[in-house]
Amino acid sequence: MSGAQTSFALNSDTSIPAVGFGTYLISNDDAETAISSAISAGYRHIDTASGYRNEQTVGAGIRKGLQAEGLTRADLFVTAKLWPGNPAWGDAPKTGAQTIKECDASLSRLGLDYVDLYLIHAPYGGDMRLEQWRALLELQNSGKARSVGVSNFNESHLDEIAAAGLPMPDANQIELHPWSQKPDLLAHMARYGIAPIAYSSLVPLSTWRTEPGQDSAKTDEMKADDTAFKNMANKYGVSEAQLLLRWGVQNGYAVLPKSLNPDRMRQNIDLFSFAIDETDMALMATMDRGDGVAWASGDPSK
Ligand code: A2P
Repeated sequence: MSGAQTSFALNSDTSIPAVGFGTYLISNDDAETAISSAISAGYRHIDTASGYRNEQTVGAGIRKGLQAEGLTRADLFVTAKLWPGNPAWGDAPKTGAQTIKECDASLSRLGLDYVDLYLIHAPYGGDMRLEQWRALLELQNSGKARSVGVSNFNESHLDEIAAAGLPMPDANQIELHPWSQKPDLLAHMARYGIAPIAYSSLVPLSTWRTEPGQDSAKTDEMKADDTAFKNMANKYGVSEAQLLLRWGVQNGYAVLPKSLNPDRMRQNIDLFSFAIDETDMALMATMDRGDGVAWASGDPSK
């Protein structure tokens, strides 16, 4: 692997950049500048969702960034997500027809005529889950989504699709970092040929979501535990964030770091000038703490 544009296969004819720019918790005031700066910093994948409520300003940032860099739409990979509803919150699950309309609405807010990847954001669709998946396959057939997948799905949700005899998702976007390694789910996904995309790779950082309003379900034990990765990062002469992101790409997971700080943006995409050695990868493999903390906080939009 070398260069920021390294990519991973998504299906037989599509690949996804190894490093993308996440947009969760980026406000509408910040999004246009942040996304355009990210494109100028070298990001070629922008990950967004209707649940983040910033698609319009993310779309403006995409246009600004492409123009500033003399790029075209085809140079960029864009991921969007269906909010599936959640009966547990009195939020009716989307039907198949509503799913198609939701994708159209996202495309219109983003100002795009297709997305590279469209995901069901969460398995909250209940009885409608398979109907939503069928609608995504229709969106792929009609060219509105080049690839289709899911997010936050567990083994049983994937088995449900397989049992219905439907084509399997190209990808499952899940919380993945050394504290949440999900080996069983990843093995299950590998059996189905589903690519992992990692979100919240930076959870173990002491600087992760510390601004007011950025809820974090990190335990006090986690907050106190900030030396292992620092020491390892020092050994490679990189930042802790680079070490955590490199752990993801070295395992074959596309990662989606987000920062509003241009220096950190550049740092987070600079992952290919060093490699974590086998001893440290083996040590990191022992640091799993089970379920993640980002999704576990129950936030509806991530
Ligand atoms: P900031 O925007 O001030 O850089 P996630 O992608 O899971 O939402 O995590 C993003 C969080 O991690 C934000 O709080 C962001 O803060 C912080 N962050 C991102 N990159 C770095 C970095 N290279 N060093 C330190 N903190 C970072």
